[in-house]
Order: sequence, then C-alpha cells, then structure tokens
Amino acid sequence: MPIELTFLGHSGFLIKDTGTGKAVAVDPFLTGNPLAVHQPGDIACDYVALTHGHEDHFGDTLAIAKANNATVIGAYELCQYIATEGGHDNIDPGNPGGRIATDFGYVAMTPAFHSSSYQGKYMGQPMGLVFSIGGVKLYHCGDTGLFSDMKLIGAVAKPDIAMIPCGDRFTMGTDLATMAAEMIRPKFAVPVHYKTFPVLNQSIDGFEPDGVEVKEMQPGEVWSYGG
Ligand code: NI
Ligand code: MN
Repeated sequence: MPIELTFLGHSGFLIKDTGTGKAVAVDPFLTGNPLAVHQPGDIACDYVALTHGHEDHFGDTLAIAKANNATVIGAYELCQYIATEGGHDNIDPGNPGGRIATDFGYVAMTPAFHSSSYQGKYMGQPMGLVFSIGGVKLYHCGDTGLFSDMKLIGAVAKPDIAMIPCGDRFTMGTDLATMAAEMIRPKFAVPVHYKTFPVLNQSIDGFEPDGVEVKEMQPGEVWSYGG
C-alpha cells in the first residue's frame, strides 16, 4: 500500500500510511501561512512531529493535536512546553541521535544547524526527522544550513524522499540545497521553505542536484508514493 504525502505549504506535510490508516502531520503551519490551502480542522492525524519550535513550524500544532488527541513528537524542551504551557500532555520527546517507535514505524531525529524558540522561549535542539512509514523512508531536513554529515544521515537513513529547505536567509538557498541533495542521495528531493514570505527565495531556480529527481509540490497537492 502506498503512502499519501500531502504538502501543507512552507515546510508542512501530512504523511499517511494507507495500509494502516495512521498519519503524521509534520510542522503544520496553516494559520498565518499565506500559501496554505488547509484549515487546522482539515487535518486528521495520529501524530504531530515537529522539527523545531519556530512559529512557522509549530503553527497549529496545539489545535491539531488536541482535536485528534495526537501524540506530539519533538525535542525534549519543546514537548515539555506543549505539556506544561500548551495543555496537551500526549507527548513523546526525544533528541538528535534517537529513534522513537510509533504505530506506523518510527521517527528518528537528526541534527540540524538552526535555532529553536517559541514566543521567545528556548525550545531545545532544532532537528531533522527521518520517518519510516508504509515501507517508505522520508528525511525532512527541518530548517538547516548545509553540513557534511548530511552524507552520513543519507547513508544511514537511505531515504526515498528528502524534504530540503531552499529559501535562503534562514536556511540553505538553492545552491547549497543542491549540494545537500547530492550528499543525501534520496530518490526524490522535495524543495520546501521558499516563496511563503517575501524575504525567501520565490522560486527553486538553481535547485538542480545531479542524480536526484526534484519533485516540486504545490500546497494541497497529494502524492501517492510506493506500495
Ligand atoms: Ni526556523
Ligand atoms: Mn522556518
């Protein structure tokens, strides 16, 4: 059975295993996202996984998690905040290097070179996330600069699909994202974190990795993969 990968805009995705019906929302930033086509109430999921605490990733996590009684996976401090300040105690915290077993497979956490705060409060380590779901491996890089251990992460995770930020300023631009894709070596690279705001790259021009197929998704687009 394939997975259904829905692009929520910016860096957000809904990943559903059509075999088990289990779904995980990643960085569900909808309210205030000018390109989003979904409302928080549209999102049905069992888990919410967060790369870091910034508002353009944390987004509608609390509303979605509470409405679905979803388990929130994220950095230790971010999960503590969600439980103590956010009023949602269904949390599953971790840190880079670790792996969390889930109903659909697992989420492994990797380093990312960035920062992580929410409303000015420290939210622990920013992370990339590797998902094993429905026989498919996905590596969401989170917000990050280029780092050479992306080659190591690619070798360990062997991802089918990598979501790679390319908007520049807060993350890699398309030139460095190209180098990242060539180090990670997924079958497909999905560019993220561009066009949402005027300060970001408005296109993926220059994102041309050798040996990796670029799959540009539009917000709301659903991609059935694998199976
Ligand atoms: Ni960020
Ligand atoms: Mn961001």
